[in-house]
Amino acid sequence: MTQPGAVADTVSPRALLELALVAAREAGDLLVRTRPQGLRAEATKTSPTDVVTEMDRASERLLRERLLARRPGDAILGEEGGASSGSSGVRWVIDPVDGTVNYLYGLPHWAVSVAAEVAGQVVAGVVHAPELGHTWTATVDSPACRDGLPVSVSDPDGLAMALVATGFGYTSARRARQARVLTGVLPRVRDIRRAGAASVDLCLVASGAVDGYYEQGLKPWDLAAGALIATRAGARVGGLSGQPPGERMLVAAAPGIFDELVGLLAALDADDDPRADPSTDPPQGD
Ligand code: IPD
Ligand code: CA
Repeated sequence: MTQPGAVADTVSPRALLELALVAAREAGDLLVRTRPQGLRAEATKTSPTDVVTEMDRASERLLRERLLARRPGDAILGEEGGASSGSSGVRWVIDPVDGTVNYLYGLPHWAVSVAAEVAGQVVAGVVHAPELGHTWTATVDSPACRDGLPVSVSDPDGLAMALVATGFGYTSARRARQARVLTGVLPRVRDIRRAGAASVDLCLVASGAVDGYYEQGLKPWDLAAGALIATRAGARVGGLSGQPPGERMLVAAAPGIFDELVGLLAALDADDDPRADPSTDPPQGD
């Protein structure tokens, strides 16, 4: 978490959003225009299916360069490059490609996610999904927008009529538990969607394209921008049992179904301690 500083006290969320937008658009262009033929995974992370490509790394390099060129005193936390410290009180939280598996397979549900925190609070966020043709934005003091126009959450008629998105982690142990929870959720909702990019899922809640979303195991870069956008669009965003949203559980939903969805997930122990997972799969899976 960053410490508040003299610059952070005066920096405007709108100015941070403008910079995030310029950087995310440039990274999106890079990812679309310079994607190699036959792109392959360059390395794996927590499991053989948790991949990083040369393009994830190129996108993160570009984002870091653009942000630090304009604001050299800022800290950055990025999925591929880790944490670097700063002195300004502003920290950027970036996912250079959220939905890497979709990107690898040529599916359009992926995004560049850029959030700005001041004193540990997200104040501006951009989720730029070039192949979906949409860019979602929000600041802490302005409405959520898609392509510059305000969006708001849906008004579903109870959980049984709700379309609910979710996602899965990469390790076998976590997936086995997520599958168990899913068997308890699926019979209780209209249907389930698994699009493959957490930041986009949160923006679909913001736009009313799904009624709710939940996932265990998200990292700060998966959720920082999208959670602000969903909140500013009128969603309730939290964990279970009054916990804040985070790695243990994130639920984002239209207010009319939030309590029902949280109650169902709590009854299913959907936020059982993720630290019980091994941080990586054994080589042959388990
Ligand atoms: C993943 C995606 C996916 C979610 C995973 C994330 P990545 O991020 O957001 O939808 O289910 O939990 O790790 O690896 O594509 O950046
Ligand atoms: Ca990523």
